[in-house]
Amino acid sequence: MTPAGHAGLRCALMIMNILGISCFYHDSAAALVRDGAIVAAAQEERFTRKKHDFGFPHHAIASCLAQGGISTHDLSAVVFYDKPLVKFERILETYLAYAPRGIRSFMMSMPLWLKEKLWIPSLIRDALGYEGDLYFTEHHEAHAASAFYPSPFSRAAFLTMDGVGEWTTTSYGTGSGNRLQILGEQHFPHSLGLLYSAFTYFTGFKVNSAEYKVMGLAPYGEPRYVRAIYEHLIDLKEDGSFRMNMEYFDFCAGLRMTNERFSRLFGGPPRDPEAELTQREMDLARSLQEVTEEIMLRTARHVHRETGETNLVLAGGVALNCVGNGRILREGPFRNLWIQPAAGDAGGALGAALFAWYALFGNPRTVDPGGDAQRGSYLGPEFSDKQIEEFLRSAGARFTRLEREELLEKVAELIASEHVVGWFQGRMEFGPRALGGRSILGDARSPRMQSVMNLKIKFRESFRPFAPTVLAERVSEYFEIDRESPYMLLVAPVVAGRRVPMSSGQEALFGIHKLNVPRSDIPAVTHVDYSARIQTVSRVQHQLYYELIERFYRRTGCPVIINTSFNVRGEPIVCAPAEAFRCFMRTGMDYLVLGSCLLAKKDQVPLAADVDWRKEFSLD
Ligand SMILES: [Fe+2]
Repeated sequence: MTPAGHAGLRCALMIMNILGISCFYHDSAAALVRDGAIVAAAQEERFTRKKHDFGFPHHAIASCLAQGGISTHDLSAVVFYDKPLVKFERILETYLAYAPRGIRSFMMSMPLWLKEKLWIPSLIRDALGYEGDLYFTEHHEAHAASAFYPSPFSRAAFLTMDGVGEWTTTSYGTGSGNRLQILGEQHFPHSLGLLYSAFTYFTGFKVNSAEYKVMGLAPYGEPRYVRAIYEHLIDLKEDGSFRMNMEYFDFCAGLRMTNERFSRLFGGPPRDPEAELTQREMDLARSLQEVTEEIMLRTARHVHRETGETNLVLAGGVALNCVGNGRILREGPFRNLWIQPAAGDAGGALGAALFAWYALFGNPRTVDPGGDAQRGSYLGPEFSDKQIEEFLRSAGARFTRLEREELLEKVAELIASEHVVGWFQGRMEFGPRALGGRSILGDARSPRMQSVMNLKIKFRESFRPFAPTVLAERVSEYFEIDRESPYMLLVAPVVAGRRVPMSSGQEALFGIHKLNVPRSDIPAVTHVDYSARIQTVSRVQHQLYYELIERFYRRTGCPVIINTSFNVRGEPIVCAPAEAFRCFMRTGMDYLVLGSCLLAKKDQVPLAADVDWRKEFSLD
């Protein structure tokens, strides 16, 4: 790492634009930071329409620069989110440790390394036409920076957990002012992220993508494999650190996550992705989730003991485990918790840029007592009403333009009368969750909305309920939580007074049928264990979205609506009006709101009947 030196001096004299980049693993992204303020951040998948796109983020970079009103010539520094050579060294060492067994996976990974990954500096320079300063942070430094610097705390402990970076899989330490200090690490192959991914693979879901489905499946199962996991797979210490028994895993040397021995331990081969889910997968999910939460809680307690801090910040893919996060908040010793919404590797781009500004160049950091610096995570591109109208006219769409008040009243009325509404407003969210910028909305009170939205819009029979958005000041009336959760990264129970108990007959139902039994007076967002993945919204965070729910509340007495991401299964969240319109026309969505424009499905000229929307959206 180049020390502050001339860059620090220069930043005192002029505006400093720093571009952060993460790519070549999964979820490529770019972020632009100007004099410490987050200007823009976006994931490449939103532009290429390739879910979890890991290629060089050409489009995301172009978008960030455009939002910042600059070109590459205005960049003071470009920062990459990990150290490719150290990562390469880990891959070589791992190969040698298992040689010759891992030759196939080694040979498969080499072309990308030799073609791109080892040449990242020249690749960045060529792609951007950029000749200025280029820096590399360590992978977990970038995660830690993404957790601490945007947080509302002047000092905090940080904890990062993921699959793997260079060598590190878990790191913790402290952030204070503009400094980050790493105090402890756990290294590859011992990794909570990889343990979770191993079970994701074994239960028939997509690794690095569908881990959240395993988390959603857990409440249907019994924890009957917990003992087997502790006895055979991991040796867990009191401080949360652990070692994995690599005799059961294949990710170091093979092309799969788990091996025959793992299959024998859990009663047969991995589930075929197309096969029905059985009680075994549910029990595995529940057991894994329990072990994961135990590791997260023990580690959090250890970090608290070691640092003595009262605030904790989280990042790394494991921080997307919002059930575990909820338990850290409720049971852990920390008083306050802040989680980077782009907790996975996309957030590494943002962390890298912030790390350069604060830790490398030594700029002072001030904290806004009113909130964090993440700006609601609305950091992507936006489209003006003029652009939207131009597009709608070119597409031959029939729409009405409404004034703000009229629009809010009308949409609140549509949701309250059980219509499904696509909601496209302002800047796109950064991170995996839609937070009211690119969302599909529905009535959380409706017992039929759960299946209507799943089947008509998402084209899935989901065992996961939808997530609620609730007015921030009313959250405790509905959920057992006493604070805001603006990024949908905390799970909390629905308050006891709103729950509906299940009869013994209903208890005996299996899978999706169980989910269709109303569990509360907001059934569409209540999981079978009475939990909900909560987003709170405040006026400061997103005024228009807040006022929409406020109108809905005035009309119905309920301050909670369904908020699900604006996409169908297998597709990234929509970015531009054209994608939103296409999704609207190809699904059973009733209404679409694009900025000030309202479209009713019944008014539109249907698209060609021979278009198979299932194929078009390449369902997985
Ligand atoms: Fe990571």
